[in-house]
Amino acid sequence: MSSEPTAETNAAIAASLAAEIPIVDLADLASHDTVANDRAAHGLREGFGRFGLVYVRAHGIDPHALDAFYDAFLGFTAQPESEKQKVARPDIWFQRGWTPPNTERAIIAGGQPDFKECYFAAPEPLDPLARQQYPEIYAENIWPEGDDAFRQRMLVIGHQLHRVGLALLRGCAQALGLAPYLFEELVHGGPHVTRALRYLPLTPDQLGTGILWGEEHTDFNLLTLLPGGRFLDPQGKRCARPDDQSGLYLRTRPSPEHPQGVMLRGFAPEGCLVAQVGQELEILTGGTFLATPHVIKAPLTAGYERLATAHFIHVHAHKVLQPLEPFLTDAAVAAYSPPVLAGTYGTKTLVDIGLAGPSALQQLGYRHYDRLEGLRR
Ligand SMILES: [Fe+2]
Repeated sequence: MSSEPTAETNAAIAASLAAEIPIVDLADLASHDTVANDRAAHGLREGFGRFGLVYVRAHGIDPHALDAFYDAFLGFTAQPESEKQKVARPDIWFQRGWTPPNTERAIIAGGQPDFKECYFAAPEPLDPLARQQYPEIYAENIWPEGDDAFRQRMLVIGHQLHRVGLALLRGCAQALGLAPYLFEELVHGGPHVTRALRYLPLTPDQLGTGILWGEEHTDFNLLTLLPGGRFLDPQGKRCARPDDQSGLYLRTRPSPEHPQGVMLRGFAPEGCLVAQVGQELEILTGGTFLATPHVIKAPLTAGYERLATAHFIHVHAHKVLQPLEPFLTDAAVAAYSPPVLAGTYGTKTLVDIGLAGPSALQQLGYRHYDRLEGLRR
C-alpha cells in the first residue's frame, strides 16, 4: 500500500502551516514595553526565517486612500491601449509608467509571461548622483497627461507603504541583533518603486491551460509590502474572491519532511498587509531570512480580474550585496558569492525578467577599449 500523502493530507498540512504565519503589530515594534517589542521581533524572526513573510497589523495605511487609488488606477487601465502606450517606456526598462501585458516573465525554467499590466512610480526622492549613473532604475516619474488624481493617490500610497517598510526594517535589525538603523542606512536613497498591478481576466478558452497571473518567483529587492487588492467580477463590479484557489501562494523553506517546501495560501487577516522578504535581504542575512517563492494563481472562472499594489524597497545602488558580518559563514560565502553592487544586481535581474534588453549588460564594466583601438591604427 502506498504511503504517499493524499491531497487532503497535503491540504491539511498547508492549512496548519499557514495558520502559523506570524502577525507583527507595528505598535509593538515601536513600543518601549520590552515584552511587546520582543514579541514583534520574535514574529519577524519566525515569519521571515521560516516563511519569508509576515502579516502586519496597525500599519497605518489609510484604507480610503488605497480605495481611491484603485479607482484612479482602474480609470487609467480602462483607456485604449494607444493612450497607455504614451506612458510605456521600454527605453527605461519599464521602470516608470505603464508595463503592457505579457512583458515581464519570471526567472524559472519555462517561466511564462505574467498575465498582468502594471504601472511603476517612485514615491521617494531620488539620489541625484545615482540618477545620472543608473538612468533607468532611478528614472524620474512619468504620468498620464491630465490625470493628477492618479499621480497624487499613487504617491500617497507609495509613501505610506515605504514608511511601514522602514519600521519593519528597524524591527528586522533588532530581531537579528544588528545596529538598529543598519538596514535603513543601506536603503536610504535606494531605487524604491511602487507598482500598481491589474491581473487580467481570462477568456473561457484560457481556463484550464495553466495560465498564471504571476509565475512563481522570488522578488529581487530587499522587502516588499502588499497592502491588499480588489477583485472585479465580469461586469467590472467589486466582488469577493471568486474561488478559494486564486490569489497569492507562497512556498515554505524546504525541510527533510518537505524537501520541495509546502505551498501555502498567503491570505492576510482582515486589516493586515503582507510583508515579504526579497533576494537582497536573503543575501545580506546569509539566508537567515528567506526570499519567498510566490505565485499568483488566476481564478477558475473566466472574466474576473484583480487590482493590487506592491511597494518594493531596494538597497541603494552603491551598496555591496554580500552577507553582513554576523552572517559571513563559509556556507553563506559559498552560497552568495561573488559580492555585487546592488545597482548591478538590479540591472542583471531586469535583463533576466525581460524588462531590460540584453544590451544593458554591456553597460557594465569598462566601455572605452575603442579609444586604444583608435590610437593603434
Ligand atoms: Fe513578487
